[in-house]
Amino acid sequence: MSEHPVHLVIGATGAAGSATARRLAATDVHLVLAGRDRAEVDALSQELGAPGHTIDARDIAAVGALVEGVVEEHGRLDGVANLAGSVLLKPAHLTTPEEFHDTVATNLTSAFAVVRAAAPAMRKAGGSIVLASSAAAQIGIANHEAIAAAKAGVIGLMRSAAATYGAKGVRVNAIAPGLVDAKMTAKLVGNDAQADASRKMHVLGRLGTGDDIAAAVCFLLDPANDWITGQVLGVDGGLGQIRTRG
Ligand SMILES: NC(=O)c1ccc[n+]([C@@H]2O[C@H](COP(=O)([O-])OP(=O)(O)OC[C@H]3O[C@@H](n4cnc5c(N)ncnc54)[C@H](OP(=O)(O)O)[C@@H]3O)[C@@H](O)[C@H]2O)c1
Repeated sequence: MSEHPVHLVIGATGAAGSATARRLAATDVHLVLAGRDRAEVDALSQELGAPGHTIDARDIAAVGALVEGVVEEHGRLDGVANLAGSVLLKPAHLTTPEEFHDTVATNLTSAFAVVRAAAPAMRKAGGSIVLASSAAAQIGIANHEAIAAAKAGVIGLMRSAAATYGAKGVRVNAIAPGLVDAKMTAKLVGNDAQADASRKMHVLGRLGTGDDIAAAVCFLLDPANDWITGQVLGVDGGLGQIRTRG
């Protein structure tokens, strides 16, 4: 059994995932990476000296097998962050059934798969699961119907799982980012006019970075914060709760 806490980051090659992995790699945890793209996972794996796995996070059985493999190999699992996800900016009437189903699978099914596999694996010694919601889950932002539905589902899932597994010391929380400079937002952030309009919606006057999200994820993973469960932590420059003047 590993002497060190074992933490698994899924979606490890994204902006938030890679920043979380880099932060964890600088601590005493034994880090395991999982991402979608073999070459990118290998590159990060090499950079951080951490084992890497490829995974389709939409696949409940595959996520189950990944978690089982980590527990078998290291004898414990202390933290899991699911930072796989996507964004879809379309009104409902222009969203195809395939886009809707994929948005739900990538953002909500992946979170369910993580809870389903990781919570029982943590029941003996406790642990922390961090899921990714969105500021768009809690306020109405136009053209976010599919992604807002999926990310609001993550909050319901998180709260129920926090209730189910809390007595066993398993904490379950979610982060809710505002607009973050990331792979999935590259087009939006790359367009000066759109980026400026988005920036103005955040009272702190800037877009988020992967590391802004990583800091919150690591806070929730940290056993020093083990009296926190069932929470949605907005990491959003104020977007989720605060209105700018215009
Ligand atoms: N960026 C934002 O503005 C924003 C806002 C609200 C919520 N969020 C949520 O925050 C989380 C972190 O996103 P981010 O900002 O770091 O964006 P990102 O850089 O685009 O990262 C998303 C990651 O999800 C991975 N992914 C997508 N589908 C997958 C699948 N089926 N299986 C495995 N991995 C998959 C991507 O893999 P590849 O590396 O192979 O592309 C990527 O690494 C996500 O859940 C996202 O929905 C982000």
